[in-house]
Amino acid sequence: IGGGTSVDKRLTEICELLRENVDYYDWVGFYFKNGNREELKLHSFAGEPTDHTIIPFGKGICGQVAVSNQNFVVPDVKAQDNYIACSINVKAEIVVPLFVDGENIGQIDIDSNTPDPFSKEDEEFLEWVNEKVARIVG
Ligand code: SME
Repeated sequence: IGGGTSVDKRLTEICELLRENVDYYDWVGFYFKNGNREELKLHSFAGEPTDHTIIPFGKGICGQVAVSNQNFVVPDVKAQDNYIACSINVKAEIVVPLFVDGENIGQIDIDSNTPDPFSKEDEEFLEWVNEKVARIVG
């Protein structure tokens, strides 16, 4: 994605705003497809730094969403076998793809330390957030 430092700053602010205002959002980040490579790259986040700044397509919850183009809600990360653990505190995860002109270009990823916290409302809210972000990055 383009846009330079002002886009980077705005996306980081969105991550921080979400993390600070929703008590069960403990880590919030945007991954984007990395050029022509079959991988996602972490672009902006709020919360603890993660080692997983590059995720191959198909790997983990994020990598699966890169190929499925569908929301992925995980109420209990321990029940997933294709899962990449970032922190032992994380209990649940939601990943919502981000579309620009109908193309899946990346995703918002949220980890929660609360078990099974995500509802259909979170999905709808994060789809709305991604529509706004698509206008910033698209
Ligand atoms: N848990 C993710 C990896 C990214 S971290 O949550 C920041 C996954 O399984 O794809």
